[in-house]
Amino acid sequence: MSNGAMPLPTDSDRTEAPRHVAIIMDGNGRWAAARGLPRAEGHRRGVEALRKVVRAAGELGISYLTIFSFSSENWTRPASEIGDLFALLRRFIRNDLATLHSDGVRVRVIGERGGLESDITAMLTEAEELTRNNNRFTLVVAFNYGSRQEIAHAAQRLAQEVAAGKRDAASIDADTLGNYLDAPDVPDPDLIIRTSGEQRLSNFLMWQAAYSELVFVPIHWPDFDKAALEGAIKEYATRERRFGGLVAKTGS
Ligand code: FPP
Repeated sequence: MSNGAMPLPTDSDRTEAPRHVAIIMDGNGRWAAARGLPRAEGHRRGVEALRKVVRAAGELGISYLTIFSFSSENWTRPASEIGDLFALLRRFIRNDLATLHSDGVRVRVIGERGGLESDITAMLTEAEELTRNNNRFTLVVAFNYGSRQEIAHAAQRLAQEVAAGKRDAASIDADTLGNYLDAPDVPDPDLIIRTSGEQRLSNFLMWQAAYSELVFVPIHWPDFDKAALEGAIKEYATRERRFGGLVAKTGS
């Protein structure tokens, strides 16, 4: 600028970070197939991408990152692929937990624990316990997770309380049910990203996504990196969030 003044920010320069980003890490299989590699290699590279994206999210000022790592519906995959995904989770916790902890990351896990192998449940609990007091960043791992199952489970617990005479059915509203979900203290996601071009939620955070901005990126998850995350945040920053009202509000 000729007068030396700082240029005023324009809409396309807005960089305010969403507080909570949730990601459907899709396309590991297609990434591998395109290279003539086994699907397991796609998942392995997916974990590498995840590691980098957790770091990038912290650097970009995001406070909560939720990742869809195994869905309730993934049980329909061949047993060998399920075994690969579980092995990767075990390895991820074994190799990365100490670093996550020393980086001040709190690990939370949402999804059904019942029916999982006992060493997996123990590892998930250990990750949550070890990092319980960290508050720099929260990584929410959706494992054996399905949104309908989460909501049904909340309804079941409320029904039990009503049946036991501890709660009046007429007093149950959306906030009450929301408080019975798996991580009620985690704010709703501001931005949900799905990689690999599919444009659906696939039973992910359907309650919490009521006012989330959805961004679909065409690249496969193993190729997703900090630049791609910044691109999605840039797209998010152009959206006007009105939360059902008439006036735009900031999400966080
Ligand atoms: C989708 O790719 C991805 C998954 C089913 C699971 C995502 C898992 C990881 C990134 C690794 C495991 C995570 C942890 C935390 C250890 P896809 O197989 O559906 O790909 P496709 O649609 O191309 O077949």
